[in-house]
Amino acid sequence: MNISFSGRVIVVAGGTGGLGKAVSLAFLEEDATVIVTYRKEEEFRALKDSAGPKASSLAGSQVDVTDEAAVVPFINGVLTQFGALDVLVNTVGGYVGGVKLWEMTTRVFDQMLALNLRSGYVLAHAAIPAMLKAGHGSIVNVAAKAALDHGAGMAAYAASKAAAVALMDSLAADAKGTGVRVNSILPSIIDTAVNRLAMPDSDFAAWPKPRDIAQVVLFLSSDLAKTIHGAAVPVYGNA
Ligand SMILES: NC(=O)c1ccc[n+]([C@@H]2O[C@H](COP(=O)([O-])OP(=O)(O)OC[C@H]3O[C@@H](n4cnc5c(N)ncnc54)[C@H](OP(=O)(O)O)[C@@H]3O)[C@@H](O)[C@H]2O)c1
Repeated sequence: MNISFSGRVIVVAGGTGGLGKAVSLAFLEEDATVIVTYRKEEEFRALKDSAGPKASSLAGSQVDVTDEAAVVPFINGVLTQFGALDVLVNTVGGYVGGVKLWEMTTRVFDQMLALNLRSGYVLAHAAIPAMLKAGHGSIVNVAAKAALDHGAGMAAYAASKAAAVALMDSLAADAKGTGVRVNSILPSIIDTAVNRLAMPDSDFAAWPKPRDIAQVVLFLSSDLAKTIHGAAVPVYGNA
């Protein structure tokens, strides 16, 4: 099975983060042109270093993806500079948990909605017109298992991820028959450096690796997954 992305233009929002970096590198390995959004210059430099000889196919832009006024010119710039946008992957998100709803501030609630819901909306809203015009494209939005599994202490997080899945489901229905496919993935926990620091006594071996989840993202973004549209794919591993 060939999963090459040669000649394809991929935007990875949050492409320097724990999962985003693995997704960006996996697309580069398959010969894509990858444009990431990032927040910290040093994280983009670190991604470039990790990309080695593929760094020439990597570009980046410092964009707040919750801000439509910043995202629209970013997407337009990608289209102008690279001539297409074949795949959009949104790995931007945030987590606040361990706090009961009545202890949570409204600021945290708004922050969860912005990072986990608004990001996907703003990016898809800006990117999909060009995909519809081209008659093909793939959007993969990273939600979370918490979208389905609404445990205690995570009301804002679970609600924002559940809404993100609903947003993509409905967008998929809108896009049916257009050649543009829209899917979500649902990590439970990911073996990132941040999680290892936060939970040092956990069994890291049970946690899915960013690279393994990245492979699912590549598959969903590829023509091999042409029959998968409007799905929310669990990537729990053994966690
Ligand atoms: N890690 C897990 O165990 C886990 C579990 C379930 C679901 N998920 C989901 O998986 C996705 C990736 O998680 P992750 O662990 O890779 O997170 P991460 O390491 O924090 O990566 C997210 C990236 O997005 C960037 N970002 C944050 N806010 C942004 C904004 N407003 N505009 C542009 N970029 C922004 C972050 O930059 P900064 O570094 O500057 O903040 C970071 O580079 C998220 O949607 C997360 O909710 C993760």
